[in-house]
Amino acid sequence: MLVLGIETSCDETGVALYAGGRGLLGHTLFSQVDLHARFGGVVPELASRDHVSRLLPLIQEVIDNTGINSKEIGGVAYTAGPGLMGALLVGAVTGRALAWTWGVPAVGVHHMEGHLLAPMLEEEPPAFPFLALLVSGGHTLLVEVDGVGRYRLLGDSIDDAVGEAFDKTATVLGLGYPGGPALAALARQGTSGRYRFPRPMTDRPGLDFSFSGLKTFALNTWKESGRSEQERADIARAFEDAVADTMVIKCRRALDQTGLGTLVVAGGVGANRCLRERLAGLMQERGGRVYYPRAEFCTDNGAMIAYAGYRRLQAGQHESLSIRAIPRWSLEELPAVGDIAM
Ligand code: KG4
Ligand code: ZN
Repeated sequence: MLVLGIETSCDETGVALYAGGRGLLGHTLFSQVDLHARFGGVVPELASRDHVSRLLPLIQEVIDNTGINSKEIGGVAYTAGPGLMGALLVGAVTGRALAWTWGVPAVGVHHMEGHLLAPMLEEEPPAFPFLALLVSGGHTLLVEVDGVGRYRLLGDSIDDAVGEAFDKTATVLGLGYPGGPALAALARQGTSGRYRFPRPMTDRPGLDFSFSGLKTFALNTWKESGRSEQERADIARAFEDAVADTMVIKCRRALDQTGLGTLVVAGGVGANRCLRERLAGLMQERGGRVYYPRAEFCTDNGAMIAYAGYRRLQAGQHESLSIRAIPRWSLEELPAVGDIAM
């Protein structure tokens, strides 16, 4: 089955074509970063309007570039949530309408399931069961994964998601939007250990996360410093070390608790090199393995939605003619998908 995937949950318009047995045929992405940069964050109404003007041309572009005929498309997958309501509606309405026009089924995909399954697009995909650490701009989740749709939430953020903490700390340090990658680049110029940040919620049992205090800690440290370039980099480094350490501690705990030997790390912050190295070290120490999507599929993209949608459509799941957009949606509410031939 050939599936068209559409991602419009936030500030990226992503489109991809995935075919069972053949893999990813093509994908394209338009990032709205320049559009939102001068506002210091995503402006929902601007995001929705931009998706409206970009989506159909991008779909045409992917179809043309892969040389397929639209009649070959056997299903459409779109991100149904969680995300910004207006942005989600653009993908949902377009995806549902195209599926109706082509006479094929449509399925609304959970954005975080897309992230979680993204490593399956790589040459050496992880095998179930595994522990997933999902780290994005909106979520910080630890999930026990037994199969597609078989998810048990072990840990969640009680305040700011880790990507949000990266972005806010970047703002504190005077870096542009989106701050995560800029903060990570600056941290590479910094020296570990010059400042000591807390490792939030690691001094008590449990697998939940809290990152909002780190941003305040960074602000106070920056104000009390001499505000030199080196101090700015050292603070960035201390923040990144604190996040990575916290992740390592929580992942170790979750692996001990579940007895799992495989870790999957996905979502935008999964592109962070320091975090990747630290988690690779943890899994090496335990004799297990860590899997990541390639860096471009850590952040939002259409390929992960096409793949997740393919798994569900292939199992016979699809939507009625109604259009689904669900801004808040738990992974645990998803129906399981049986083991199916790929
Ligand atoms: O998964 P994603 O593209 O969108 C959401 O679903 O939220 O994640 C975006 C988040 C942003 O907060 C961004 O700053 C962060 O991921 N991010 C990074 C890096 N690349 C993206 N954070 C730290 N280091 C990076 N290299
Ligand atoms: Zn995302």
